[in-house]
Amino acid sequence: MKICRTVSELKNAISERRSLGSIGFVPTMGALHAGHASLIERCRAENATVVASVFVNPTQFNDKNDLKNYPRTEEADAALLESKGCDIVFMPSVEEVYPEPDTRVFDFGTIGAVMEGAHRPGHFNGVAQVVSRLFDFVNPDKAYFGEKDFQQIAIIKSMCKQLGLTLEIVECPIVREADGLAMSSRNTLLSPEQRAAAPVIHMTLAASVARKEWADVEETKKWVKEQIDSNNMLKVEYYDIVDSLTLCSVDSWEHDGSIYGCIAVQVGDVRLIDNIRYK
Ligand code: PAF
Repeated sequence: MKICRTVSELKNAISERRSLGSIGFVPTMGALHAGHASLIERCRAENATVVASVFVNPTQFNDKNDLKNYPRTEEADAALLESKGCDIVFMPSVEEVYPEPDTRVFDFGTIGAVMEGAHRPGHFNGVAQVVSRLFDFVNPDKAYFGEKDFQQIAIIKSMCKQLGLTLEIVECPIVREADGLAMSSRNTLLSPEQRAAAPVIHMTLAASVARKEWADVEETKKWVKEQIDSNNMLKVEYYDIVDSLTLCSVDSWEHDGSIYGCIAVQVGDVRLIDNIRYK
């Protein structure tokens, strides 16, 4: 596996392999876990060349402490990527990715304004800035993203449309711990007590699916929030039940189109997100 620190090293390494066939790309912020490993495995199975990036992107953090505390495990990340058959990893400095400040402002309409967009101002603009730059450096045929960041996938698809990018965005299922907690780099920041409480999030979402049979959407939202908030380690920031494409709230299970529940929960200083499909 080749480790590239600069954009020119990266471009050279990729151009040497482009004639072999498709380039698959897995962008990450490092602190890799089994969820990332599953993205690399899928990318490996579907492409001649697997490129990953490990870059904690400052422009997508609306909270300075979150950026400071974000786990950084570069050596372990490189070992995991190599073990999964990654060919090229890009591990740049901030200056390499942003030689000049990126002042672009994207407009994603409703999908950028609700849920994470409402609670983390500027977050998706930063995601679009970095992902568009990475796509420009790598020029992949396919890029792989985990469905835990459900709204992020919608944002990236919209960004590609706005910029006229034709690569395929591949959505990959959430990988969970044995107790149901969605894998996240932030899980390592939980205290043992917080870690023990966190599976309540998925347990509650999973249990709420059966409620469709007798409870309406509003009652279900209220029930999910109450269940999770009744654990004193957990505080729901938002829970919404939305159309999977528009991300607008739905008011009935009869809604035409598929429906997801999306949640953000504060666990001490750590913020976790998860989602579930209702139909
Ligand atoms: O999902 C992530 O880890 C990040 O938001 C991404 C897509 C790598 C951009 O920094």
